Amino acid sequence: MGWTFCIVLFLFVLACGCWPLPDPEPLMHGEVQSPQYPQPYPPNLQKQWDLSVPEGYRIRITFTHMDIEASAGCYYDSLTVLYDGKVLGKFCGSENSADGHHPGNQPILSPGNRLTLIFQTDNNNPERHQNLGFSAHYQALDIDECSAPGDASGPLCTQICLNTLGSYICSCHHGYELRSDQRSCMLSCAGGIFDEPEGFLYSPGYPNSPPHAVSCQYIISVELGFTVSLNFSDNFHIESVDTQQGLSCLHHWLQVTVPNRDHIKLCGAKSPGLMVTNSNTVQLDYHTDDEGLSNGWSLDYSTHRVQCPVPGNVAEGRVTPILTEYFYRDYIFVRCDQGYKLMMEGQEIESFSTMCQNNGQWHLPLPECHIFDCGEPEPLLNGGVTFLSGFQNQYRSVVQYHCNEPFYSFLGAVNVSFTCESDRKWRSNHDVVVRPTCIPVCGQPTQHLSVYQRIIGGNDAPDDTLPWQVLLSIDGGRGGGMVIADRWIMTAAHVVGKDGNPALNDTVRVYMGLTDVGTLMVSPVYAASVHIHPDYNNPNHVDYNNDIALIKLQDPITFDSSVMPICLPAQDATYVTGTMGLVSGFGVTQEKGRSPKQLKYVHLPVVDQETCSDSFTTSQQKRGGGQTLTDNMICAGLPEGGKDSCGGDGGSAYALKDNGRFWAAGIVSWGTGCGKQGSYGVYTRVANYLDWIMKTMQEN
Ligand SMILES: *[C@@H]1O[C@H](CO)[C@@H](O)[C@H](O)[C@H]1NC(C)=O
Ligand SMILES: *[C@@H]1O[C@H](CO)[C@@H](O)[C@H](O)[C@H]1NC(C)=O
Ligand SMILES: *[C@@H]1O[C@H](CO)[C@@H](O)[C@H](O)[C@H]1NC(C)=O
Repeated sequence: MGWTFCIVLFLFVLACGCWPLPDPEPLMHGEVQSPQYPQPYPPNLQKQWDLSVPEGYRIRITFTHMDIEASAGCYYDSLTVLYDGKVLGKFCGSENSADGHHPGNQPILSPGNRLTLIFQTDNNNPERHQNLGFSAHYQALDIDECSAPGDASGPLCTQICLNTLGSYICSCHHGYELRSDQRSCMLSCAGGIFDEPEGFLYSPGYPNSPPHAVSCQYIISVELGFTVSLNFSDNFHIESVDTQQGLSCLHHWLQVTVPNRDHIKLCGAKSPGLMVTNSNTVQLDYHTDDEGLSNGWSLDYSTHRVQCPVPGNVAEGRVTPILTEYFYRDYIFVRCDQGYKLMMEGQEIESFSTMCQNNGQWHLPLPECHIFDCGEPEPLLNGGVTFLSGFQNQYRSVVQYHCNEPFYSFLGAVNVSFTCESDRKWRSNHDVVVRPTCIPVCGQPTQHLSVYQRIIGGNDAPDDTLPWQVLLSIDGGRGGGMVIADRWIMTAAHVVGKDGNPALNDTVRVYMGLTDVGTLMVSPVYAASVHIHPDYNNPNHVDYNNDIALIKLQDPITFDSSVMPICLPAQDATYVTGTMGLVSGFGVTQEKGRSPKQLKYVHLPVVDQETCSDSFTTSQQKRGGGQTLTDNMICAGLPEGGKDSCGGDGGSAYALKDNGRFWAAGIVSWGTGCGKQGSYGVYTRVANYLDWIMKTMQEN
């Protein structure tokens, strides 16, 4: 105790007293010259240079020039070279001088990293004194410490010495490791942690027995997702003890430990061979004591990716890639067959892939493939779809549109089918996709009138026989009209006009679909607008020219057997005298009679225009009326009278039939009396107004 204290104290004093300043960084080379060189040096000099280079180097100094007054033993002037107080040389003279001692071209080596030069001159013969002195350069030279003999405790390194610039390091032979003294070697456990994917391990001294007891630990620990396999070489020898229970690893053993599993102790003379651990971490503990003999063991270890179970199949889908085994970081993909979609947990997914995880499990369960559907086909107004094949709008289903017959038919009358294709869209089988449209069927009632009847003298119309007939109620007054399109009613101008103005929209009520007035008048349809022919001008009720008007309905009508439109005249429609037409209406059945409760109808022939005109001339002369028959009118009726349209029928249709279809030939307009002998009913000649009708319907 006392000694240690003294030494520490001494060192402290020394440190404080002798080296107050840190040395500057030593140079690797330099030059030294005598004072005033290359001028002659002055007398009476005593100059010292302390050269140093870094530790682990020595100094080599070479004189490039030396001219110092020569004297025997360099008695007067001299340059002395010292190392550690020891004189390496004392020089004077010049290269050619006989006296003195000149170093020549040979460099001088210092044994260490320091060198001292002392230049000394006297005052002899100052006048004569013309010597120039010296010039030298020095450099640091690496010391090969390894070739040094070492010290009392033995060689520098007990096994391998490696010289380095300025120093050296010791190293050990294979199977040994350097002790903490950095100089001597000991038999190595070579233990520690091994994290490379493969490696080689062996017991100390293997294949020989270590000279003393060892206790070594080796841990192989590789990335998660990999498993370690140990492959012991055949040359395996660990002391075992024979017991009644068999071999026992009593004193020497190699213990193999895998986390979460029982450890295994190995000993004996038989190599365990290959051990598959199924773990990414394995610990090996090798233990021997000072007695007994174990030559040891060696092993190669390798790592393998964790394996995942082979994925199953996906119905209506495909799992790729198909491999016999799947390992950590392998990916699989699932694609559904055409027409099927990927579903996971009830949700459709765009795509599917899953990876084999480091725990040997797929990170996602396999999805399912469900057949997809194209959704509801676009609805068709007044029509629908029927499945030609398939169902639930599923892939490959084929649907065909149909119109609600017999009230609607296809525009163009083509059958278009649509297939639910793999792009999940309904695709037409036609090259040009025809968007189906249902147009109303006109002029073809589902029920037919068979018997000739009369209005005045006519008969009740059964249901559905005159489905275009409407009853108009305008400000309490009554009139007739006909359905010509799903939003349009055609009537006479005199029915919806008063003093040249159209009736206000909200005073117009339209009743349709029934033949019984009582039930019919319960649910009216309202007008959106009323359009009177612009050339209708009838202030005094004598000029019925252009007696035509259109009512646009607020809501479109859906046609059925009770409400159907009547056809408009064809462009080339003709009115052939004598052709039977059909007039209907809710008008009076007798002049000045009460309005009937039922829809009535009567069949009347087209009357020759001249005959009709003549009849008016005659009757006008009789009655003093002012009406004239124009080309915009036609007449129908019987010369003997008794059948006619009458008040309240105004605006109703006079229908002619062509090819089984009724068309609106006339609009009940005016007459002189009802059903009188010798006078006819006059009707607006609808064929003359086709352009106006079309234009009005298009523009509104
Ligand atoms: C184990 O090592 C031996 C050589 O020592 C070699 O022949 C054998 O193929 C190895 N076994 C495996 C599974 O790597
Ligand atoms: C349209 O399809 C229907 C039903 O499939 C069929 O009865 C009808 O004949 C077809 N019409 C035409 C013009 O192909
Ligand atoms: C009737 O309808 C026409 C056309 O839509 C419109 O201009 C007019 O204002 C309407 N009249 C009334 C009274 O609603």
